[in-house]
Amino acid sequence: MRAGHTVRVVMTPEATRLIAPATFEALTGNPVTVDVFDEPVRGQIAHIRLAQESDLVLIAPATAHTLARLALGLADDMLTTLALATRAPILIAPAMNPAMWTHPATQAHVQTLQARGVEFIDPTYGIMACGDEGWGKIADTPVIVQAVQNRLNRSETLNGVRILITAGPTYEPIDPVRFVGNRSSGKMGYAVAHAARERGAQVVLVSGPSALHPPAGVQVIKVQTAQQMYEAVSEQFDACDVFIATAAVADYRPECMLPYKRKRRASKWTLKLVPNPDILGTMAQRRTHQLLVGFAAETDKVLENAQYKLRTKDLDLLALNDVLEPGSGFEVDTNRLTLLYADGRVQPLPQMSKLECARHLMDAIESLLQRSEGSSES
Ligand code: C5P
Repeated sequence: MRAGHTVRVVMTPEATRLIAPATFEALTGNPVTVDVFDEPVRGQIAHIRLAQESDLVLIAPATAHTLARLALGLADDMLTTLALATRAPILIAPAMNPAMWTHPATQAHVQTLQARGVEFIDPTYGIMACGDEGWGKIADTPVIVQAVQNRLNRSETLNGVRILITAGPTYEPIDPVRFVGNRSSGKMGYAVAHAARERGAQVVLVSGPSALHPPAGVQVIKVQTAQQMYEAVSEQFDACDVFIATAAVADYRPECMLPYKRKRRASKWTLKLVPNPDILGTMAQRRTHQLLVGFAAETDKVLENAQYKLRTKDLDLLALNDVLEPGSGFEVDTNRLTLLYADGRVQPLPQMSKLECARHLMDAIESLLQRSEGSSES
């Protein structure tokens, strides 16, 4: 409220056993809603009105039970009904016993919600009401307020910016049933598409084979091979402002695809591979005004190799991850990125969810776009 926001409080029936709604009514100057059938303004359905009028929904503190209900999409009280009906961003500050917070069920619900774009203000380490010590204490109030401010300020900052993204692996056919591929799941690229879209960018996602659902509002072009990915990117490139190559493109493909499934024989078999086009490298040569962002999945001499890639491919930004590090790289939901800029800056980020990594990447892209705008104006 001190930052100038209008605050409306919704309480679960359980919360009213700890604090009386009248307290929040006095503090906010607005009625508190607890029951779905409460209608503070006659003739207006309260949960729909609140859902549509809110710029942001903050759930603080959120219990393990509420996280589970939100993940399942239940609408059994005013809070969960509002969360389902709103299209505003949702921020959650969990607070619970450490054993409950780290329980696989709770963590699975957190991941489900994150995948839908819900953001978490993680609990901190401390002593709980029950006397246990660990991770589960609600984040400090200034941290929560700052997260709300950041989220409100972030929206639509990439409005009108056209972002082309590649994601996932490519499959290079050997015969009609076999292929040469890699372990990329597409999670990082889809998270990048999500993070770009939530800031209002127009996103085209060229995706290799992936089981993931693309984020809402993103144009998706599905491909199988590196050659198809190259052609799709080539067609879209001139119309984009930023190209982010997240895909793990197969560097080689079998020279020719056998028309029939190859039969097993006792003798050795040598597969002849030919190089695939370097999509990012080729686009770098074709760029007019585009900002180019690459990814480097490395296993050895990680920084050295990444710096070499940044220079030789003439990129503005490169996100490096060591795929041999636990919790980083292929298939997992987390990553630890180091951002390398063309001007030599190196920005190591801590391990976090792929969506959070993608949001940091967007911050970096935004700052580079602002710089290039500034330099073209001066
Ligand atoms: O595979 P590598 O680590 O060299 O990939 C570096 C960057 O180049 C990544 O952003 C990847 O998407 C891109 N790339 C590409 N076409 C290729 C190989 C890699 O666009 N054939």
